[in-house]
Amino acid sequence: MVLWPRRRSRSSHVNPLRLPFPPGPKGLPLLGNLLDLPLEDQHLTFHEWSKQYRDIMHVDVLGQHIIILDSLQKASDFFDKKSSIYSSRSRMPMLIELMGWDWDFALMPYGETWRKERRSFHQHFHQGVVDKYQPQQLREARRCLTRLLADPDDFLHHIRHTFAASVMSIAYGIEVSDRDDPYITTAEIAIGSLSETSVPGAFLVNNVPILKYVPPWFPGAGFRKKAEYWRKVGDEMLNKPFYAVLDAMRQGKAVPSVTSSMLQNLCEDDDNTEALEIIKHTGAAAYSAGADTTVSAVQTFFLAMAKHPEVQKRAQAEIDSVVGSNRLPEFADRPHLPYTNAMVLETLRWQPVTPLAFPHTSTEDDEYEGYFVPKGSMIFGNAWAILHDPIEYPDPEEFKPERFLKDGQLNPNVRDPSVAAFGFGRRICPGRFLSDRAMFCVLSSILAVFDILPPLDKNGMAVPLKPAMTPGIVRMPVPFKCVIKPRSSAAVALIHAHGDEC
Ligand code: HEM
Repeated sequence: MVLWPRRRSRSSHVNPLRLPFPPGPKGLPLLGNLLDLPLEDQHLTFHEWSKQYRDIMHVDVLGQHIIILDSLQKASDFFDKKSSIYSSRSRMPMLIELMGWDWDFALMPYGETWRKERRSFHQHFHQGVVDKYQPQQLREARRCLTRLLADPDDFLHHIRHTFAASVMSIAYGIEVSDRDDPYITTAEIAIGSLSETSVPGAFLVNNVPILKYVPPWFPGAGFRKKAEYWRKVGDEMLNKPFYAVLDAMRQGKAVPSVTSSMLQNLCEDDDNTEALEIIKHTGAAAYSAGADTTVSAVQTFFLAMAKHPEVQKRAQAEIDSVVGSNRLPEFADRPHLPYTNAMVLETLRWQPVTPLAFPHTSTEDDEYEGYFVPKGSMIFGNAWAILHDPIEYPDPEEFKPERFLKDGQLNPNVRDPSVAAFGFGRRICPGRFLSDRAMFCVLSSILAVFDILPPLDKNGMAVPLKPAMTPGIVRMPVPFKCVIKPRSSAAVALIHAHGDEC
């Protein structure tokens, strides 16, 4: 997602309603607030500003209006109550026009094409249907245990692999190989290109779209060559697994998956041109939006466990008392594991994967509480501020799953982090139910058999870990070390027993 706005002509910002913009720091002529915005942790700066201004703010960057909503009330007023005009996306010249990501409905402007694609996606990932993917999720979680046992130091890689393998299996029925899998390699480069183009200011063409016409051989047009390469890789990610499923179906060898079931539902006598494109996009959207985000949340969980041994012990005690030591957790155990469920919620709240969600773009001029919000504004909901509101979540910087419990059960009166952790309104993440199941099964399986401990220095002393996150719209914990040890010889035997099964 391109966070940084493109340049817009100032003359288009006539204020027809003669109302002021929402409050915000005063900018410079032409540059606006460009120099006020930090390149990292913008959610923190926005939240600081909100103390001086209010929970709705306006900044202008090179003529692009940006509105920041720093409370759930404001986010809901815009994204829910006025969703028909606050649900679009901005133009993204590098990603869409040069790299060809126009197929991805996560990046599409609001409208009929987006609606069709989202509807198709929703049919396969809504709350009532995702439980059918539990076998694949459980299998990949258990394979992850085997890898952690064999090579604990490479845990960050194992987590990545687990989610890549799980999405490939759910979306395409494709079993990936343990190392150097060609599907995963392609998808990782493609998703990497998505994050690289989202670094603010990384590509001038996003601010000056006319640059897209500069020929690739022109001096200084390195971005065109990059875009050509990334387009090729992105096309491969979109097409290769899809055609592999088509081939497998023709040969009667397809493994059930989202793609195969959508293909089976086509009627041979119809013109299926559009339907085939939508099917292709559905699998690729699941991978491109789903893999990195859940990986980030689970890596954060490892960080939290290594920092908070008391939380880990409490979760393990709960799992031991419900599951025992002769088997691994199953989804059926979930209702009996409130503390573990609270840990899933706290992981999403403590270090939100997308602290500013993804910006929405407004499609009409609007008035809100006496302020003017021009058409084409980028609207950020500050998910981090909402999830760190000390009234809703006392001591918000602390990792405390018990905040979600009352009398040993999940307390419905504590705000569920999914009000902001997955974005807002009509664009709210449609993969959140799958990700919830994935997190539960990976977290509970790992804690059943492993201890996660802080790294040790050369004198054998524990090194305190700090929660540091990478910049960007999807944040990852900055790579860190921890010690991962099986809890007992019985745990090792359990991992081997399940490893042999899957
Ligand atoms: C912890 C895990 C996840 C987080 C934190 C997350 C977060 C988000 C956020 C913030 C948005 C943008 C919402 C907005 O514009 O307001 C989004 C959109 C999206 N997510 Fe997720 N997501 C996660 C997992 C997943 C998974 C597992 C999938 C796929 C199976 C997925 C698929 C999508 C898609 C397709 C969109 C685009 C929706 C649209 O623009 O209409 N996400 N996600």
